[in-house]
Amino acid sequence: MVCLGNICRSPMADGILRKKVNDLNLAVAVDSAGTAGYHIGEKPDPRMRQTARSFGVDIEGLRSRQFSRQDFKDFDLIYAMDKSNLKNILSLAESESDRQKVKLILNELYPGQDKEVPDPYYGGEQGFIEVYTMLDQATDIIIKQITK
Ligand code: 4NP
Repeated sequence: MVCLGNICRSPMADGILRKKVNDLNLAVAVDSAGTAGYHIGEKPDPRMRQTARSFGVDIEGLRSRQFSRQDFKDFDLIYAMDKSNLKNILSLAESESDRQKVKLILNELYPGQDKEVPDPYYGGEQGFIEVYTMLDQATDIIIKQITK
């Protein structure tokens, strides 16, 4: 799961998918990263942690890290939160196989529509709840796909 800072959207996506994977006892590794390095080592944003807690998802243990080329080797699927993240991830791809791993996460929910998970960083609480809801729905579809 990849966003810009790895403190709002992608930790939430990571936490939700991790919980679903654990609840179903699936042997699937879940992680998140940011395309930028501004927040390396930091916990998720307090507002995102609060929203996660309110929906029973624990993201307290996550720490921001920057996406790197190694992630193409370590993961089969790479979900970008918005088109800018997608472009930045693709700029690091070294092969067609790398490129094929990268998807816009909301295309799982709304195929082909290229919708984006809005960055909640500069907005109010409602934005964080909207991000949670979108990611909860998108990760339900991801779970269906990886278990079919
Ligand atoms: P995220 O949100 O990409 O969802 O983690 C942001 C966090 C920090 C900044 C931008 C977006 N920032 O500019 O510091």
